[in-house]
Amino acid sequence: MGGRVGEVEVRPLVEADLVDADRVMRLAFGTFLGLADPMAFLGDGDYVRSRWTADPGAALAAEADGRVVGSNFATRWGSVGYFGPLTVHPALWDRGIARRLLVRTMEIMDGWRLSHTGLFTFGHSPKHIALYQSFGFLPRFLTTVLSVPVSPPAAGTAQWSTYSADPDQAGRLADCAALTDTVYPGLDVSRELRACHEQDLGDTVLLADGSGFAVCHVGPGSEADTGTCVVKFAAARAATDFERLVGACEAFAASRGAARLAAGMNTARRDAYRVLRQRGFDADLIGVSMHRPDEPGYSHPDAYVIDDWR
Ligand SMILES: CC(C)(COP(=O)(O)OP(=O)(O)OC[C@H]1O[C@@H](n2cnc3c(N)ncnc32)[C@H](O)[C@@H]1OP(=O)(O)O)[C@@H](O)C(=O)NCCC(=O)NCCS
Repeated sequence: MGGRVGEVEVRPLVEADLVDADRVMRLAFGTFLGLADPMAFLGDGDYVRSRWTADPGAALAAEADGRVVGSNFATRWGSVGYFGPLTVHPALWDRGIARRLLVRTMEIMDGWRLSHTGLFTFGHSPKHIALYQSFGFLPRFLTTVLSVPVSPPAAGTAQWSTYSADPDQAGRLADCAALTDTVYPGLDVSRELRACHEQDLGDTVLLADGSGFAVCHVGPGSEADTGTCVVKFAAARAATDFERLVGACEAFAASRGAARLAAGMNTARRDAYRVLRQRGFDADLIGVSMHRPDEPGYSHPDAYVIDDWR
């Protein structure tokens, strides 16, 4: 990059931008994290194309001199919204480009009339915390991305099926929305079930009795690097259901040939966090969730939820 940078324009991200936006995203994270090869960030996992495809109207590009130099993605889960990954080309950091992207992102999210919004970020970075605080987000609980080696399912593993094979997908979407509504009013991740199915990003694991579901990313084009199955979102009614659901996710991951199962967990969900630790999950990444307003949302002690706001 380098050289003079002209006026920066924030505009909708379009399909022709995806390759450049993806390159900037990997370079930005890889540089921030100090990787020997910054472009190796996320392996062959994907955020840019899959999130743009799921909702092109909520994807933004920052353009300078005809080049994409940054991007951000807003996600709506019913009454809840989050954004990310927010990235800017490292050669242009600290020139207000992320701030410009965030102003437009907030306009999109405000238009959704959400009751709860948030993001996941690096808790050790004063810059990240200060930037998001200036938009009204406040740091809350440590949020971990944990993983466990996948082993062949033990006898007695919970009965589960998949959304892709379900003859009544509209019914399953309604069931899942009804379940999440009990965790937090209006929380609805139908978008993730649909995106996973329509883009072939993995599948949604359904417990036989409707007491839990998990949107699992695995394979090419998904948010998961090769060899890993990532739980994008999961919810269960109670602790015993949650334990069965995690077991079903492990079985699903094994069925897709994944070596590890990864899951994001806000540690405010005390019991769900305990279950993951007891099942042998270890932290790979520890960050912090920031919320606006400064309320728990669906990260409360009784929430049996896994999610990934990365
Ligand atoms: C995080 C990132 C998107 C920020 O982009 P950017 O264009 O450099 O950010 P901006 O210049 O718009 O804003 C940075 C703000 O932080 C402030 N800041 C910088 N260093 C700071 C520090 N050490 N302490 C407090 N504030 C700091 C700047 O002053 C600026 O605030 P201001 O607008 O009030 O002056 C960019 O660094 C990036 O791509 N990082 C790698 C990927 C990443 O971490 N993404 C976010 C994941 S949650």
